[in-house]
Amino acid sequence: MTTAQRHESWLLFRSRPALWALLRAGRWTGPVRHVPRVGWLVADPVLARRVLNDHAHTSVLGEGGVGHLWAQVLGDWVTELFDGPGHAAMRARVRDVFTEASARAHVDRVLAPRLAAATATLAAGGELDVADLARVLTGRLVADLLGLPGTTDEQARARFATAERLAALAVGTGASTHLAPATVATARELVAELTAGVADGWAHAGEDRLLGRCRALGLGRRETEGLAVLMAVAGTGTAASAMARTVALVADTGSAPRLLAAPDLVGDAVREGLRVSTPAPVIGRHVTGDTALGPAALRAGDRLLVLTHTVDNAAGGFDLDRPYDPATRQLWFGAGRHQCLGAALAKAELAALLRALLATGRPWRVTGRRAARGVLVPAYAQLRITAARRDAEPRS
Ligand code: HEM
Repeated sequence: MTTAQRHESWLLFRSRPALWALLRAGRWTGPVRHVPRVGWLVADPVLARRVLNDHAHTSVLGEGGVGHLWAQVLGDWVTELFDGPGHAAMRARVRDVFTEASARAHVDRVLAPRLAAATATLAAGGELDVADLARVLTGRLVADLLGLPGTTDEQARARFATAERLAALAVGTGASTHLAPATVATARELVAELTAGVADGWAHAGEDRLLGRCRALGLGRRETEGLAVLMAVAGTGTAASAMARTVALVADTGSAPRLLAAPDLVGDAVREGLRVSTPAPVIGRHVTGDTALGPAALRAGDRLLVLTHTVDNAAGGFDLDRPYDPATRQLWFGAGRHQCLGAALAKAELAALLRALLATGRPWRVTGRRAARGVLVPAYAQLRITAARRDAEPRS
């Protein structure tokens, strides 16, 4: 195991010990295996993609799917928006907000000043906590996307923390996605906090903003609030985790000098960072009808867990020279009709962060790291870096 792989494994273990064990077990279970009280584990790229595209026999609603959690918190109406006919309509309505071009423009507009400040800190010889910076950046971006107030770092951190607390309520639903009444009550309080300004934005925001767009295209206030809370949860912890972990992976594999010499490789660093970190390490589904998956006979009512982290990491560690793999493609963003809506945004954020660090003209090194505990998405709580001194750089 390389140093970078050891750090990643340590991070997963510290953040989510049970998940770490499940993902490791996935290496030995074969392509698909039934585990009592857990469900079907899928650890093969072809079967993973097949099951995520099989909307006739699987659903995100019902025991085992993320929609089941949301329905208990937001109400049964989410069925329509999350996996019913309203789902396709919702995705079609907001598609152009999430293209590569609009994602890049959005990231530039909202994050450029904050990233320039980070570059300046490093260039002046200061220490940067990239984990904190990532929380600030993702908190700012989601607030802007939803047209909510949140212009200071403190506001961005607070919004991130609320979304993280809401997501963390799903920890421990590995065996069942039925939530206890007290958990549902806490979740509803957090949802109210996150959506406090959405009704106003929905009523008054311009059509160039997501909330205004939702209104103009006929999405009701309740559905818009549902989408807003989904974005806040889906788009913060995952992206922040990928950002800090990719920065660590670049340092731990000694790849920063190559990125400095060939900035065109940033796209490869983003892809490799997402592949190795796979911030959504498991995707759950409810089986809605009997069907075969490879050698397995799935029955209606079963649950299954696609071990995306295990599948994505089977190829090996972070490597800028690793070519695009058509088998996994972008499995870290899922597949099928629920494939991540914010994928372009996540990639643009990650690329912008790497470019800001490279703008010092010097490689960075990690001076300290601490794993987050009790979170849904394994992540660094702290990742301190400094730019290498010029006299410490290797001679070529
Ligand atoms: C590195 C960052 C990210 C990763 C790894 C990631 C991963 C994923 C995955 C695996 C899914 C599919 C879940 C399933 O099939 O059950 C998903 C769905 C989703 N993601 Fe992301 N995501 C990221 C960032 C974002 C961002 C920045 C946003 C938006 C601000 C976002 C919004 C969504 C939404 C709305 C869905 C649900 C799509 C649907 O059900 O149609 N994600 N994400």
